[in-house]
Amino acid sequence: MANWSEVDTYAKSWVKEAGENIRKSFSKKLTIMTKSNANDLVTDIDQGTEQFFIKKIKEKFPEHRIMGEEGFGDKLSNLDGVVWIIDPIDGTMNFVHQQRNFAISIGIYENGEGKIGLIYDVVHDELYHCKKGHGVYMNDLKLPPLKETEVSKAIIGLNATWVTENKRIDPSLLAPLVKEARGTRSYGSAAIEMAYIASNRVDAYITLRLAPWDFAAGVIMIEELGGVVTTLKGEKLNFLENNSVLVSKPGLHKEIMKEYLNNGNW
Ligand code: IPD
Ligand code: CA
Ligand code: CA
Repeated sequence: MANWSEVDTYAKSWVKEAGENIRKSFSKKLTIMTKSNANDLVTDIDQGTEQFFIKKIKEKFPEHRIMGEEGFGDKLSNLDGVVWIIDPIDGTMNFVHQQRNFAISIGIYENGEGKIGLIYDVVHDELYHCKKGHGVYMNDLKLPPLKETEVSKAIIGLNATWVTENKRIDPSLLAPLVKEARGTRSYGSAAIEMAYIASNRVDAYITLRLAPWDFAAGVIMIEELGGVVTTLKGEKLNFLENNSVLVSKPGLHKEIMKEYLNNGNW
């Protein structure tokens, strides 16, 4: 049985240390590479940050397993035991182009159950953290449970990709939502979008393709605050593959599913 207070203390201190190293990297020259396509960027800092976490975790908690975006962790086919799901820099394009609007995102699971979620907005020094059952905090501020809202009063996190021609969803499905909502935003970091729902800056977030490391930390926080996370078909997320994702305050989730996504039949 893991000592979650101990894991939490170490995880937070490593996240802060990694964040400090990332801030220091701003004055150095980045090595930028591409992965699946010309816009899928990765840098030496993404890779070095993931390796930093892996070294720390393996030293202190050798029995824990790690799923990391950059591939330095373990190859997992299940979520048995304690698993750290790590995105060393979520929002790499922003990191490279803007030096802001990116985050370190870590979700720690035990047998598939969320235990600790950490999202660190490095530039704003905002650490969102949650130990299951003990609430969600932004730095020292305890975040209140999410309140119900409706589309006409909501700010929806949504990338313009999904309302123009794309290969995952008919753009005419979500276009009416953009029209009816109070406003839309796109921050370019799934972890930050989810942290912003947790902190009441955004009301819902919709995207068609996220990997487990993009949402592992956020899901723990949103559910702890009474929010809802499903695929756009209304199903539970699968933590071993890519998913479409609808993250939302409680009543709003129902409204979006029913009025815009035909309860998942699209
Ligand atoms: C990306 C960001 C982005 C989302 C992409 C992710 P990365 O993560 O979260 O907001 O739209 O789907 O891949 O590659 O910067 O870690
Ligand atoms: Ca990511
Ligand atoms: Ca990343």
